[in-house]
Order: sequence, then structure tokens, then C-alpha cells
Amino acid sequence: MQLVSSFIGLQARYINDTRSVQMLTDSQNRIQAMSLVHERLYQTRGLSSINMREYIKDLAEALISSYKRQGNVILKLDIEKDISFDIDTAIPCGLIINELMTNSLKYAFPDETPGEVSISMREENGKIRLMFADNGTGLPEGTDPRQVKSLGLKLFYNLATKQLNGDVKLGTNKGAWFEVVFTPGITSGKA
Ligand SMILES: Nc1ncnc2c1ncn2[C@@H]1O[C@H](COP(=O)(O)OP(=O)(O)OP(=O)(O)O)[C@@H](O)[C@H]1O
Ligand SMILES: [Mg+2]
Repeated sequence: MQLVSSFIGLQARYINDTRSVQMLTDSQNRIQAMSLVHERLYQTRGLSSINMREYIKDLAEALISSYKRQGNVILKLDIEKDISFDIDTAIPCGLIINELMTNSLKYAFPDETPGEVSISMREENGKIRLMFADNGTGLPEGTDPRQVKSLGLKLFYNLATKQLNGDVKLGTNKGAWFEVVFTPGITSGKA
């Protein structure tokens, strides 16, 4: 997967039109989110669970540097230390954060405006609450992830409701916010 991702990166360098380069960069980041999970699994041989605090931090920081917004977009993480998931739960969580984070970096803070992205993940009564928020321009009025034609929010909604069996809420309040509440499976949950 790392190879596929580097290959797409190389391709992007040979293309001049910015929209195509953007599309390839987006694909590269989607693959990166999945390959980070695999990397973490190989690193912790024998362990089949991924620590979400470390994984989400790596993923979000990699996206900020991929969009060259270090020091400009500040990351606020509040992820319970001992939440670990197996690959079937970690990958959808990673892909969700990848889509939301990419959107914040692309749309929430135009023209290099500085901003903040907050991600929290906490356990409450056996359920996991994932909160994602930025303090940028906010979602376009009437954004409904069930109706959108674009891939990103549709992917977010499908991963959250179908893969994680979660409940989704979203809105705008000093920026875009998203919440997913789900019950981790038997093989996942607190390590
Ligand atoms: N955090 C955000 N702040 C402001 N606007 C946003 C934010 N997230 C999404 N949007 C708006 O919602 C639209 C839909 O987002 P979505 O991720 O579905 O599509 P996209 O990013 O345009 O394309 P894709 O994700 O398929 O590459 C975006 O085009 C943007 O206008
Ligand atoms: Mg998007």
C-alpha cells in the first residue's frame, strides 16, 4: 500500500492541472490512512489491536504536513489513552478522520487563515463517542451527508453508519462539527 501511495505521488508530479493533482493527493491520503494501520500492526507484532490515541495523532499530523499547514492549523486531541481497536474498527475510524480532516484543511480555513481542529474520542457507558470539530467557515447550509453527491461526506456517513453501526450528528457552530457514537465490537473496545 505504501508503494501504491508513492506511485500516485509520482504520477501527481507529472500532471500540470491542479484539479487532477488534488484528486491524486486525496487518493494518496486515503491510502495512507489505511497503510498507517497496517504499519502499526506490523510494528506491534503479536498484538492485533491499534491504539487510537497514537494512530489518530499520526494520521492527523501527516495530513497537516501533507497540506503544508504546520503551525497554521493547530491540532487539539483529547483521546482516551487506553482505547484500542482491532483493524475492522480502526480502519473505518481512520478513514472517517481522514475525510473530515481533509475537508477542514481544504475548506474551513481558506487563504491560509489559521485555525484549530479538535478531535476527541472517549468511552461513555460502553459506547465510544468520536467528536470532530473545526473553527472555520462552517458547512454549507443544508448539508445532509445522506444526500451529498460528493464522495467525502458520503464515505464518512456510510463508514459511520454501516461499518461502525453508529449514530451520526453534524452541524455548524463556530465551524463544522461531527459526532459519531458507536458500540465497539467484541474484539475491540478498551485494551
Ligand atoms: N470542515 C468544513 N468546512 C467548510 N466546508 C466544508 C467542510 N467540510 C465539507 N465542506 C463542504 O462540503 C462539501 C462536501 O464535502 P465532501 O468531502 O463530501 O466533498 P469534497 O471534499 O468536495 O470532495 P471529495 O471529498 O470527494 O474529494 C465540500 O465541497 C465543502 O464545500
Ligand atoms: Mg472531501
